[in-house]
Amino acid sequence: MMVVNDSKIWRVSRRDFLVLSAGLITAMTLGGASGARISHAADIKFPEGKCGGEKNMEKRVLIAYASKYGSTGGVADAIGKELCSKGVAADVVLIKNANNISSYQGVIIGSAIYMGKWMSEAVDFVKENKDILCKVPVAYFLVGMTLARPTEENRAKALSYMDPILKAVPEIKPVGIGTFAGTMDYNNLSWINKKILKSKGTPEGDFRDWNEIRAWAREPVYAKLVR
Ligand SMILES: Cc1cc2nc3c(=O)[nH]c(=O)nc-3n(C[C@H](O)[C@H](O)[C@H](O)COP(=O)(O)O)c2cc1C
Repeated sequence: MMVVNDSKIWRVSRRDFLVLSAGLITAMTLGGASGARISHAADIKFPEGKCGGEKNMEKRVLIAYASKYGSTGGVADAIGKELCSKGVAADVVLIKNANNISSYQGVIIGSAIYMGKWMSEAVDFVKENKDILCKVPVAYFLVGMTLARPTEENRAKALSYMDPILKAVPEIKPVGIGTFAGTMDYNNLSWINKKILKSKGTPEGDFRDWNEIRAWAREPVYAKLVR
């Protein structure tokens, strides 16, 4: 898949800091886990690309994602590649680049979690395209560090991050909700975020479980969304 660079550094205002402090205290229960080494800010990439589509009869699926540091793009890319290997035409794009939504037979929307929430552009995308999304099978996924320690409690917490969007757009009933562990690289963060996350015991590393992500792409996504 084609890869584009669009690096962004996230900073917080004083107000954001207060919200962040409160959000992190309540939203995250982390620590005690270890992940693989990860790349740093200069390497941040947001994968986008297409595969398949040569045969007219293929089903075409959109995988649109929101991300600050790229790890959610890696998850979207892996989902796209898995679907392609099953003969589905898949377009992986950042949400801001998603268009012609009605031309797809299925849509997967994913976002990184910040302060216990899907990123606003993902929420806005679902709300703005509600009428189109209601007519096709849809799946949601999230990527967050809560799942670096995949206890039952943390799995339930991660799933609850989806409640606001499920309540805001109840007409869309996703065929699946994927909850995946993400990455943490303190080198990418402002000093204040680094301090807060470290104080919460957030482990550094790449916790994405590619087998789990590919398995989700097969079931329920391939099985229920495009088959
Ligand atoms: C300031 C900040 C707040 C975060 N808040 C949460 C959170 O509330 N819950 C969670 O599971 N992960 C949280 N994370 C971890 C991110 O979701 C994780 O790093 C994810 O992989 C980022 O995805 P991205 O690389 O696509 O932006 C937070 C990370 C940062 C830097």
